Amino acid sequence: MTATLANRETTAYVESLLARLTLEQKVGQMIQPERMAITPDEVAEYHIGSVLSGGGSAPGANTAADWIAMNDAYWMASMRDAPNRVPIPLLYGVDAVHGHANVLGATVFPHNIGLGATRDPDLMERIAQITAREVLATGVDWTFAPTLAVAKHIYWGRTYESFSDDPHLVSSYAGALVRGLQQECGRGGVVACAKHWVGDGGTTNGRDQGNTAISEEELERTHMAPYLPALQEGVLTVMASFNSWNGVKCHGNRYLLTEVLKERLGFGGFVISDWDGVDYLSDDPAEAMAMAANAGVDMFMVSVEWKRCITHLLDHVRTGVVPMSRIDDAVRRILTVKHRYGLFDRPRPAERYWSSQDCLGAPEHREVAREAVRKSLVLLQNTNNILPLDRTARLLVAGKNADNRGHQCGGFTVAWQGTNGNEQIIGGTSIWEGIKAVAPHAQLSVDGSAANASAHDVAIVVIGERPYAEGMGDIRPAGLVAPGSSPEGRTAKLDAYGQTIELAVLHPEDLATIRAITRHGIPVVAVLVSGRPLIVDTELTETKAFVAAWLPGSEGQGVADVLFGDHAFTGVLPFAWPHITTRWPRGYGL
Ligand code: BGC
Repeated sequence: MTATLANRETTAYVESLLARLTLEQKVGQMIQPERMAITPDEVAEYHIGSVLSGGGSAPGANTAADWIAMNDAYWMASMRDAPNRVPIPLLYGVDAVHGHANVLGATVFPHNIGLGATRDPDLMERIAQITAREVLATGVDWTFAPTLAVAKHIYWGRTYESFSDDPHLVSSYAGALVRGLQQECGRGGVVACAKHWVGDGGTTNGRDQGNTAISEEELERTHMAPYLPALQEGVLTVMASFNSWNGVKCHGNRYLLTEVLKERLGFGGFVISDWDGVDYLSDDPAEAMAMAANAGVDMFMVSVEWKRCITHLLDHVRTGVVPMSRIDDAVRRILTVKHRYGLFDRPRPAERYWSSQDCLGAPEHREVAREAVRKSLVLLQNTNNILPLDRTARLLVAGKNADNRGHQCGGFTVAWQGTNGNEQIIGGTSIWEGIKAVAPHAQLSVDGSAANASAHDVAIVVIGERPYAEGMGDIRPAGLVAPGSSPEGRTAKLDAYGQTIELAVLHPEDLATIRAITRHGIPVVAVLVSGRPLIVDTELTETKAFVAAWLPGSEGQGVADVLFGDHAFTGVLPFAWPHITTRWPRGYGL
């Protein structure tokens, strides 16, 4: 079923290494603390196998040089020689989920939902390849991507991380993404991570970290299916999911992690837990560690309490609660990934080929992101063929998302929850900047108050959501689930994004901006920036044309490319569009 990871050379290397490791060193390989919680000296002292940056966690001034210096320090610590330890290079992980978007100046690609509209697996491979380059340019070797979620409820705050609610579409991308990221473990590749195993997009009411209550047949058909091409391409890691399946948390589900993923599907890499995901298995943290390790979690992603995790695992092995064979299996998998990827052959991060490349946000990378923006736009309404626009027209550009690179990038960009404004998205163009660059008579008036029938022929109004990530993006209708009431995960204590997907209620300011313009009789072209389809019936009746732009990322110029007709609209809906009175199926697009 799956590409074999351990060839003869890797097996021999890993076995000889494993035989020389103490229990402490083995357990250390299984722990992945967050960078804020661990120093390089501690990496050496505790034999740590991996460190991560959680969303928005960045060293120094968040430049490529800062990242290289940080990785170099951790890597050097992991390679320190001492009588009680064998040097094993550290594997650093980040969320490069739409480009290496945590880093200032990186190319930010559209979020997955927009890429779903392109129906272009070849483009996915090129995007993944570029993402790998930019990750390597910072001395990092591992991205927690691709997300292969099939979001079945658009209330889910992570809907934009899902390419589509159609498992066939997600599957058609999965192999290309893994190929592009890993480059068959060649010099230009990074370690990929298919996530989140499994059923993350199927929770009841789209509740983040909730319960997916479906039959096994349905779980396989919808949520497991996209993993098959990823495994076929030899994806090196898989992340366990926060959600439960029929009441059992995936992190403690031996059947799903070990019997299905590793045994039946033949996955030879390692399973990483999600962020403190093990903690939700039991109120007793020691018991939680045992449940996860025995279920098949090989590496533990831990925000702060990593020393406690080490203590618990060591105790469990000494008392036989977690068998030594399970530890050996986990470490064998981790070392296999490190060896297959070529980590043992790579020099220190500061001296690596790609680290010295000034390729973060390179023009040729941004060009591909711009192409992706163009191809992701879906034209939903075009009364009297008002589009394409004449670039010499007297244009009014309005809306809160018109000149906001932060908003158009969405969550998982510089900060976990994304950013507001242009300042922190270095390089690229806002949608307004893209229009301004080609339309000499365009004028910006964010709230539309400058609208004037004798001065403006037509208006472009850029509306929609502000950035969010994970549970903070959930829509939780009142009465369905009280906001912040769930004990199911860390985001539970945080408020949801809103109570409805009806834009006129969720963001009434958008309709106000549109009406400030239409009351002068100026026709409006609406561009919706959002992480999911929204009910826009009212906005549709107020506007002539309507474009779904999803979360386009840093290259807003791509929107102008299509609005002015330099390129045709080719995107089609990756999700069915919800409605009060109007509806378009998945695949729709003018
Ligand atoms: C998310 C993962 C992410 C991890 C590390 C978690 O909260 O669920 O998708 O990879 O954080 O940032």
